[in-house]
Amino acid sequence: MSTFRSLQQVRPANIIGGAVFAGLGVALYSRYMVTNAHADSGAPKKIFSGGLANVSLRLESSEEVNHNTKRLRFQLPEADNIAGFGLTSSILVFSWPEGRIFPVVRPYTPISSPNEPGVVEFMVKHYAAGKQSTHLHSLSPGSSLRFLATLKGFAWKPNQYPHITLIAGGAGITPAYQLIQGILQNPSDQTKITLVYGVNTDADVLLKPEFDEFAAKFPERFRYTYTVSNPVPGSVYRKGYVTEELLREVMPKEKDTKVFVCGPPAMEEALVGKRTKGGVLERLGYGKDKVHRF
Ligand SMILES: Cc1cc2nc3c(=O)[nH]c(=O)nc-3n(C[C@H](O)[C@H](O)[C@H](O)COP(=O)(O)OP(=O)(O)OC[C@H]3O[C@@H](n4cnc5c(N)ncnc54)[C@H](O)[C@@H]3O)c2cc1C
Ligand SMILES: *[C@@H]1O[C@H](CO)[C@@H](O)[C@H](O)[C@H]1NC(C)=O
Repeated sequence: MSTFRSLQQVRPANIIGGAVFAGLGVALYSRYMVTNAHADSGAPKKIFSGGLANVSLRLESSEEVNHNTKRLRFQLPEADNIAGFGLTSSILVFSWPEGRIFPVVRPYTPISSPNEPGVVEFMVKHYAAGKQSTHLHSLSPGSSLRFLATLKGFAWKPNQYPHITLIAGGAGITPAYQLIQGILQNPSDQTKITLVYGVNTDADVLLKPEFDEFAAKFPERFRYTYTVSNPVPGSVYRKGYVTEELLREVMPKEKDTKVFVCGPPAMEEALVGKRTKGGVLERLGYGKDKVHRF
């Protein structure tokens, strides 16, 4: 069960473990280092610009944001380094939890800006019995964590579409947030963005202050709708799931668009459909070629 569809594809890294991964990485790593050695010395060094990173970073702070989610902020090796990842990326986190035979490798999506000096930040949801998420939630400031490599997602090109829609469920908000922040922080990217964010309860809404700020700063370009399936009494949010009716109401009228989806399996299946059966998005005119699942 995953909010992030490619979890299964990434899982084998866990089984293969450190040995094979390290072997595979050595060649890439040396190549990466060589490339970097020739980089312009005036530009800040990018730690996660692509391929192997293999750095151990110190945890600067760990902040609880709700009942199951923490924000973890790590220091880059030097204060003037930047994360430097491209939109959209995730980073493979390696750990060897005590008492385990195999190390654990899982991808996490940075939510700090790729250009922010000195730090990289993640938002991690804890799953009961989840190996990596339990390890990450157990870390206290000052401890260190190894980051193996950057995984590229959808290769975003500015102004490729006039208007995009992002549909996120629960903790699946991180890739949507990374893309939205990246687009709005790039003055030469004029893409308009509609975000639809579905969660179970009011307490599960993540990054609200950040999205509120974007909406206030870019009222012509960014708008969002939150919907809560089990709202508390007096909730300020709309009630219900991300339905066809809701999407019909809030999605852009431009048809030359792209839809990005990242949510729990039931949500993604309802929206995107199964192999043989189309989902809500297809009925709304967004065939599979117009939909990207993070
Ligand atoms: C590209 C990509 C980006 C990702 N970005 C983020 C991110 O920014 N933040 C984040 O928190 N996670 C993110 N994930 C998910 C993350 O990689 C892990 O899958 C997640 O933290 C669970 O790993 P674990 O080792 O704790 O659980 P595991 O040990 O793999 O799983 C143990 C048990 O936990 C439960 N479980 C685990 N994962 C889920 C799930 N997703 N939904 C429901 N139950 C589950 C299941 O019962 C499972 O059997 C991302 C995944 C991908 C593929
Ligand atoms: C990563 O770094 C560690 C410690 O510096 C080193 O032992 C390991 O061989 C490196 N792995 C790769 C793939 O370069």
